[in-house]
Amino acid sequence: MLENIRQTSNYLKSKIEEIPNTAIILGTGLGELVHEIDNKQIIPYTEIPNFPVSTVEGHSGNLIVGTLGGKKILAMQGRFHYYEGYSMQQVTFPIRIFQALGIQYLFVSNAAGGMNPTFDIGDIMLIEDHINLFPEHPLRGKNYDELGPRFPDMSEAYDKKLRLMAMEVAKEKNIKLQHGVYVGVQGPTFETPAEYYFFRIIGGDAVGMSTVPEVIVANHAKMKVLAFSIITDLGVIGKIIEVSHEDVQEAAKLAQPKIAAIMREIIQKI
Ligand code: HPA
Repeated sequence: MLENIRQTSNYLKSKIEEIPNTAIILGTGLGELVHEIDNKQIIPYTEIPNFPVSTVEGHSGNLIVGTLGGKKILAMQGRFHYYEGYSMQQVTFPIRIFQALGIQYLFVSNAAGGMNPTFDIGDIMLIEDHINLFPEHPLRGKNYDELGPRFPDMSEAYDKKLRLMAMEVAKEKNIKLQHGVYVGVQGPTFETPAEYYFFRIIGGDAVGMSTVPEVIVANHAKMKVLAFSIITDLGVIGKIIEVSHEDVQEAAKLAQPKIAAIMREIIQKI
């Protein structure tokens, strides 16, 4: 694993002139944010040694270097989901590469189902904490002390300062921002009504099939994380209707400019 990380990060160091300190993972329907990135250098995942290749429709696979709000950033257009069959090591490999490249800030977005009855479709939820319900842990197995501690602290997995900045920016821009706990599950099925209810009872506000593995590894690597969910469907009793991947993508696209505006502003400030 360490050798693979070295190989891949050396390749990227040779390709990228000036390595930024911030990386963004663009989730479902947020790939469009790429259009807001200027002076783009696009590196397809297929050209990056040891990088898995994204398989799901609507998730194109490119690493993008460029500027957002005048600041240099790295962006992942398309991420690797556990339900696609990748191991947790593969799902989180890009985070290890970010670590090796010296990335300090990780911004994440995803699409999620909302269990909180005050949420509406199209809302943005600032993730304050998560509940990990994936069946496998990305840090299971041998710990490499040079990558992080055996028993990482998760008391502030989502950086408080960044969250406060997000709240301020949202207020300035008149963007409604919800807050809550993200429940990470393996998918690929959407939830049954009983499952949504269960996730609500255990303290969840939204549920999705990504983010948690990457955020765990980013914390292991001591990165500061800020993450948002776009609420694309509702898992609230009385409001549950049939949901498809297309509905999720459509709803995510509509909310995207709001997340883009918040992220751009915060990236300028850090
Ligand atoms: N459940 C799980 N993942 C999701 C959902 C959902 O309702 N919506 C978007 N991603």
